[in-house]
Amino acid sequence: MANKITYQGVDWSFNGMQGDIETTEEAGTSTQRIIELKSNNGNTLFVRAKRIDNLHEAIVYQDLSARQLPIREFVPNYVGVFDSSFNPIVLSERGQAEVIEEVVEEECEEQRSYWMLLEDVALNLPDSQKIDAYADRRICDFKFAGPALHGNPNEKKAHGHTNLHSDTYKLFKRAIFGISDCPFVYQQSCKPGNIFQMMIQFFIRLISILETKETIKDHFSSIDDLNDLKKVIGQLEKLAQALEESDYAFCDSSLLFVPTIGEDGKRSVDVHLIDLAHGYHGKENIDGFKESKEEQLEAIRYLTAKAKRVLGQRIAEASIQGINSTSAPAAA
Ligand SMILES: Nc1ncnc2c1ncn2[C@@H]1O[C@H](COP(=O)(O)OP(=O)(O)O)[C@@H](O)[C@H]1O
Ligand SMILES: [Mg+2]
Repeated sequence: MANKITYQGVDWSFNGMQGDIETTEEAGTSTQRIIELKSNNGNTLFVRAKRIDNLHEAIVYQDLSARQLPIREFVPNYVGVFDSSFNPIVLSERGQAEVIEEVVEEECEEQRSYWMLLEDVALNLPDSQKIDAYADRRICDFKFAGPALHGNPNEKKAHGHTNLHSDTYKLFKRAIFGISDCPFVYQQSCKPGNIFQMMIQFFIRLISILETKETIKDHFSSIDDLNDLKKVIGQLEKLAQALEESDYAFCDSSLLFVPTIGEDGKRSVDVHLIDLAHGYHGKENIDGFKESKEEQLEAIRYLTAKAKRVLGQRIAEASIQGINSTSAPAAA
């Protein structure tokens, strides 16, 4: 029997969750699945179910939606939280602490699980666009890597997260992230496995972190049309402004670069802000907020400057080509 959920006033049905996402390709440690929703009038929507044991990320998404903050343009659309029988969990009607306690208890006792559903930003592109992922243009998770964005224990405690790390782990992480020599690390998969798989994954991760700057540049350089590159620069500027206005800072979050190709064969890139599990708001008065916020804005400015540099080089190359072609002697 098909399952049903209601989202944006539409009833959607689906045949349960497909298996865990092929984990070698994607960053992150959470279990995630794709669900293909179908509406009565034949529309399809792909949503991503992320298994959660803490509701804070969902609460952040709900707050961004409720207050219609401009940052919503850059984050995936939030569908809701459901238990494993697809009963919706209504966050607004219950206290956060009460629901979290219930979630953890039920998960242990009844083997229920809880899932946060988001629209998938790569699988729901408009008809005129497709994902254009191959080799260097794969979908990339660029994690914010500044020390004040590695995870703030004050934020974690305030929001009921239990994964507090030791000082040694933090120093280790800082050293590894430092090798990217920029405010991001290009993250590849880090799913738990046997010791051999973990070692290989760690090695691949190190190499990809080392290549972060180059990978970011490749994405900007791969944009065919200069107007599209200017659009991406405009989007990054808008993202910084929207983040500033939202008064949120997001530790441990990432920018997801989705390479696209249009009907005209032109390649571009969509940029999304994802993984809001450690988002916190200025009004919460949590120590470390100001530093996280500044580092996150600085990181986006770094990216904007990098894209502008690529644009400048491309304009210079085009004008040199123009001069060469006009000054070349006419063929006899
Ligand atoms: N809404 C989404 N649309 C498309 N891909 C997504 C979306 N959310 C997450 N992903 C993919 O899943 C990966 C892990 O998601 P993330 O939310 O960062 O989980 P984790 O908390 O485990 O790090 C991301 O790197 C990205 O590739
Ligand atoms: Mg992540």
